[in-house]
Amino acid sequence: MSWINRLLGRRPRAAQGAQSGPVFSVAPLAAPSRDETGGKKAGAASQFPRFQSTAGDQLSTRLTDRFAATRIKLRSAFTPSQPITDRRMFAGRIDVLTTLIRSLEDQRVHVIIYGERGIGKTSLVHVLTQAAQDARYIVVYCSCGAGSNFDEIFRAVAADIPLLFHSGFAPTAEQAERGGSLADLLPAGPLSPRLVADLFAKLTGTRVLVVLDEFDVCESPEFRRNIAELIKNLSDRSIRTQLVIAGVAADLTQLVEHIPSIRRNIFALQVPKMTAAEISHLVENGEEISGVAFDRAALDFIVFVANGSPYLASLLSHHAGLAALDKARTKVSVEDVSLAVDQALAEFRGRISKHSQAQIDQAAKSGVRHVLGVMAGAALFNNGRFDGRDVDALYPSAATAANFKSTVEELATKRILLEFSEDEFGKGYRFSEESVLPYLWILAAQKRFLESRKPAPAAAAEKPAAEKVADKAADKIAEKTSDKAAAKDEPAAPAPRAAARQG
Ligand SMILES: Nc1ncnc2c1ncn2[C@@H]1O[C@H](COP(=O)(O)OP(=O)(O)OP(=O)(O)O)[C@@H](O)[C@H]1O
Ligand SMILES: [Mg+2]
Repeated sequence: MSWINRLLGRRPRAAQGAQSGPVFSVAPLAAPSRDETGGKKAGAASQFPRFQSTAGDQLSTRLTDRFAATRIKLRSAFTPSQPITDRRMFAGRIDVLTTLIRSLEDQRVHVIIYGERGIGKTSLVHVLTQAAQDARYIVVYCSCGAGSNFDEIFRAVAADIPLLFHSGFAPTAEQAERGGSLADLLPAGPLSPRLVADLFAKLTGTRVLVVLDEFDVCESPEFRRNIAELIKNLSDRSIRTQLVIAGVAADLTQLVEHIPSIRRNIFALQVPKMTAAEISHLVENGEEISGVAFDRAALDFIVFVANGSPYLASLLSHHAGLAALDKARTKVSVEDVSLAVDQALAEFRGRISKHSQAQIDQAAKSGVRHVLGVMAGAALFNNGRFDGRDVDALYPSAATAANFKSTVEELATKRILLEFSEDEFGKGYRFSEESVLPYLWILAAQKRFLESRKPAPAAAAEKPAAEKVADKAADKIAEKTSDKAAAKDEPAAPAPRAAARQG
């Protein structure tokens, strides 16, 4: 009996049939007796979907699924919808963290962390926060909202800094002993950057990090201007407060206006795609926490499709782990990952407008969906943009590249999934909807990975020539994720490479 049947109190089909006769029977006309009603109510109640664990993460006592405990562990091992807050689950990024810590500690600059959606900025900031707290920094974390304003945020920051670190108050002063904070010293009127800097200038015996996460979400130009002015003020006066700003952006100026005035005072870091080894590390951390293991091919599949995105890796590992447990296994196979990919595709498709969905289906009929998927893979970490040089880099022969460029040109002219883009990098193309990119890429990557496992003649016989060329391009994209390949001039792998894990 499957776990879900057991959970819902359903009997296997054969047993149901044997007891209750035909599936479609005429409903009884007479009202059921009291006993029958009670029985039905009990049956309906036991079939009603339930949470499997309590809010305190305890297993439900009604549960008979023998994998229920593993399921709970798996949920906290892979958390695609939540940033990492526990250092044990944080994979890779050692160089990035070291660089950030050095900039804050040695150069005493303010830090801006930017990058694509889901690349791991918030997780990075959380781990950086823990490292700073270990060194006894006071860290105040603020997640910006659309309506965030300077006054509100810095009053909240001041409220988290104990008064005993203010040079004007001895630690034994009554107000400091009563647990007062810097917020007690703020005037009633709106706060200006100068006023906040004046207050922070009085800090002694500690250092403060103010983390402003999701900075891109805040819409107010005035807020951004005030932050730039505060950075200038804090830097010019060597004040013991530093800002760490994190947000989605393709480049720095997109994130912080008025950059020229503060350029010397900031260190900006674009969070890169993860390498294959880092993605493998992410999965291994999850294996350790959950007790669910991924076989070698399953891991390769996740690394290939994730294309350097910790979010995709976490999402696929989560779904694949649950798919294996549904089949009463604690070892995840390629088939489980494929189910996970299907589930992710359904989720991503739901985020795409009906208009683009129809265009994608049309592209599938005309045979260009797969090659578009490969370009989506290239554009995924490039602000949705690609250009002729990307096509040249991915397509081996000038003829196939030219062929593909003319297809792309036609799609952009007709505004089918693509549009023209003109920026400092020159003329290029961008996908008309952000949510189309992961969907198209995952679809193409899944197809490519599964076909690469078929015997070569069988796979080749089924394919149009354009797709074969696109497959090689998909391999090149995945290849870029692999640190092995980046280190030396290896040719693109003929099929998805083994992930950088031993054995
Ligand atoms: N270093 C890491 N190790 C393990 N998992 C990670 C790591 N970085 C990110 N993740 C996973 O990737 C997902 C996205 O991470 P996070 O929320 O930190 O990204 P983000 O860049 O802040 O996203 P957004 O742009 O939406 O704010 C999360 O599910 C998190 O669990
Ligand atoms: Mg974030």
